Amino acid sequence: MSTPAVEFDLADSSCTEMLGAALARALPSVGNGAVVYLQGELGAGKTTCVRSLLRTLGVMGLVRSPTYTLVETYVLPHLTCVHVDLYRLQSLTEVDELGLRDSVGPGCLLLVEWPERGGGHLPAADLDLTLLYAGDRRRARLQANTLTGAEWLKNLGRDTSLSAYVSNLT
Ligand SMILES: Nc1ncnc2c1ncn2[C@@H]1O[C@H](COP(=O)(O)OP(=O)(O)OP(=O)(O)O)[C@@H](O)[C@H]1O
Ligand SMILES: [Mg+2]
Repeated sequence: MSTPAVEFDLADSSCTEMLGAALARALPSVGNGAVVYLQGELGAGKTTCVRSLLRTLGVMGLVRSPTYTLVETYVLPHLTCVHVDLYRLQSLTEVDELGLRDSVGPGCLLLVEWPERGGGHLPAADLDLTLLYAGDRRRARLQANTLTGAEWLKNLGRDTSLSAYVSNLT
């Protein structure tokens, strides 16, 4: 399944952080888990969004970009969050070795930057988040692919604070 995409502008990095926080609050059922693909060119704001999402979920301390480690894992009481960045992936066998299929399902939130480098070896996404350059701002596009993703976007749409930090919502 696929629902219409939701798009809006993010004027600066604090807006991208607000989006991450709102996504954390809107996560449908924390226990059921979900998979998110974050796409966009280098420096588009993917890690900025994930960092804020994780902090809002309760991750304390430093949230490092998994640029070199490829994977960073955060264990919360009811949710294990796995943040992946495949930009520096050397081969597709390396994706299989990361064991990401074990990071899907109840109690798991999998967030993948540069999923296009995973060449179909990744678990399917419930939600696609694309960050596009728009001058010195960014435009966000959210697309749900599953019922979980659709519920997530529905919850996000109910977030009345959303209109305070995004513009040109379509
Ligand atoms: N909406 C925005 N408008 C302008 N700058 C932004 C916005 N959101 C994030 N940034 C800035 O973009 C820069 C890069 O952000 P970030 O590291 O999150 O990108 P990334 O997509 O994860 O990059 P990479 O592909 O290298 O992992 C940061 O300096 C961040 O503050
Ligand atoms: Mg990044």
